[in-house]
Amino acid sequence: MSSIWHWFVLIGTVVSLIGVMWLLFANRSVSGEQTTGHEWDGIQELDNPLPMWWVMGFVVSVIFSVIYLVIFPGVGNFAGVTNWSSAGEHDGEALAAEKKFAPVYARLADMSGDELAADKQAKQVGRRLFLNNCATCHGSTAKGSVGFPDLTDDEWIWGSSFDAIQASVLNGRSAQMPAWGAMLGNEGVTAVANRVRQMAGLEHDAELAKAGETHYNTICVACHGPEGKGNALLGAPDLTNDRWLYGNSLEAIAETVRNGRNGVMPAHAQLIGQDKVHIVAGYVYGLSKE
Ligand code: HEC
Ligand code: HEC
Repeated sequence: MSSIWHWFVLIGTVVSLIGVMWLLFANRSVSGEQTTGHEWDGIQELDNPLPMWWVMGFVVSVIFSVIYLVIFPGVGNFAGVTNWSSAGEHDGEALAAEKKFAPVYARLADMSGDELAADKQAKQVGRRLFLNNCATCHGSTAKGSVGFPDLTDDEWIWGSSFDAIQASVLNGRSAQMPAWGAMLGNEGVTAVANRVRQMAGLEHDAELAKAGETHYNTICVACHGPEGKGNALLGAPDLTNDRWLYGNSLEAIAETVRNGRNGVMPAHAQLIGQDKVHIVAGYVYGLSKE
């Protein structure tokens, strides 16, 4: 607070406290007349002294506020004799929690993926970390949604080993599926989309799929492989199974091919730290094994 506002608040607070006390005692005396002379609709306003319990209550509340303002911050920049602050209280609690959980994290930090997936405490901590940090995108059951992969199934876009999963969470992933609409035109897009559905064993137009095969073998093969099995190094998904990130209708596939897709998994190394990434990766690794 700038010094002007400091004095503004300080003087305002002290003057009002003195002011209300003055007001109270200045109005203690009564005129001695029975009424104030005010009358409306047959009702007369009497001039009686304030009840004692009310006056005492008022005095006590003023004394309380003075004590409060001495202990806690409130009068301008004066921090109060205890130096209390909400940020300080939060930091203290965070530090206490860190101290309390440090041994837990230390024990789990050295575990392998399989050990984490089997450990009861690791699963509990991992689940809580998942709900706090991952559920917004992957869903509270980790089943994902369009554009956000299901983490409980057996398809892994970026690799299924514990190390690959941990790397996905630690450093993030950025998928680059280019847009082919301009190059292939509408017909080409529809043709290659039919070819993809053919490879996946879905209903398709055989003639269009045949035309699309040429496109597939010149363009798509580089990332999705000759049989459409994908490539974990590039994050190019397997196109032959029944797991689809963006949907497997002809329209959805054509949309993917036409405009491309760029799914981003944010890096969590800085966000939650290595120890927590290790535990939550173990939890996710365990989910797909259940
Ligand atoms: C440079 C590498 C690359 C090339 C070339 C490429 N893709 Fe992809 N493709 C990817 C990546 C990476 C993804 C995942 C995108 C994401 O996760 O956001 C993807 C996703 C897809 C998907 C969505 C899969 C799903 O689960 O929903 C389809 C369909 C697809 N590609 C088809 C094709 C077709 C057809 C071609 C050729 C015209 C092609 N791709 C060319 C890299 C490529
Ligand atoms: C802002 C949304 C978002 C958040 C938050 C997020 N993710 Fe992701 N995650 C994604 C997206 C999108 C992808 C898919 C990237 C792609 O298209 O290849 C992904 C991919 C992944 C993958 C790779 C899946 C595979 O099939 O290879 C793992 C593992 C993963 N996330 C775990 C986590 C964990 C654990 C957390 C919490 C610590 C988390 N994610 C938080 C959006 C998110």
